[in-house]
Amino acid sequence: TGTTVVAVDGPAAAGKGTLARRLAAALGLPYLDTGLLYRAVGRRVLDAGADPRDAVAAEAAARALTPADLERGDLRGPMADMAASAVAAIPAVRAALLDFQRDFGRAHGAVLDGRDIGTVVFPDARVKLFVTASVEERARRRFLELQARGVAADLMQVTSEIRDRDAQDANRPVAPLRPAEDAILLDTSTLDAEAAFAAGLAIVKDRL
Ligand code: C5P
Repeated sequence: TGTTVVAVDGPAAAGKGTLARRLAAALGLPYLDTGLLYRAVGRRVLDAGADPRDAVAAEAAARALTPADLERGDLRGPMADMAASAVAAIPAVRAALLDFQRDFGRAHGAVLDGRDIGTVVFPDARVKLFVTASVEERARRRFLELQARGVAADLMQVTSEIRDRDAQDANRPVAPLRPAEDAILLDTSTLDAEAAFAAGLAIVKDRL
């Protein structure tokens, strides 16, 4: 009974987005990339010339968020990554984005990916996946993704940015990155996108 919510959480570049999008398509459920919300808030703060750690500016940006903000093409890249992670540590920003995420999931069920879907946004989600991979593998993937987009990147730098963002996300007091107690861990270090999808779908189908 009720709607089906599948939570897909995990650290940066673990393959959550690709997996969640494919699971949603396979299950016929809407998909929400919740990281995009924090990215769009971070971008608005940067555009306003403010510091993403500024709680007043960040909360105002979160409250002013519009659907068009999520369509912007400049939400990915080192600046946007760190700005998103900075605004995401501010409790008022998280509170401002909570209802939207819950309403989205409750309307027709959904697959949502993020950091705190299984712990905070939908603690009673039907299925919770926590997707991980080694930091080396995640950095390699992000590096290749940046290269494919024609963005100049340095593997060492990408690695250190991922480490910094993981630490910032895992150590914040509010909604830190961590697996829910009832989450199923999926390590994609040695899996390509196809194999990760097959493994994820098997876990989900088993629990629906
Ligand atoms: O998933 P993605 O890497 O796009 O998320 C960008 C940032 O947004 C993360 O580093 C994290 O700080 C924040 N985030 C969050 N909670 C979520 C989704 C993303 O704090 N549910």
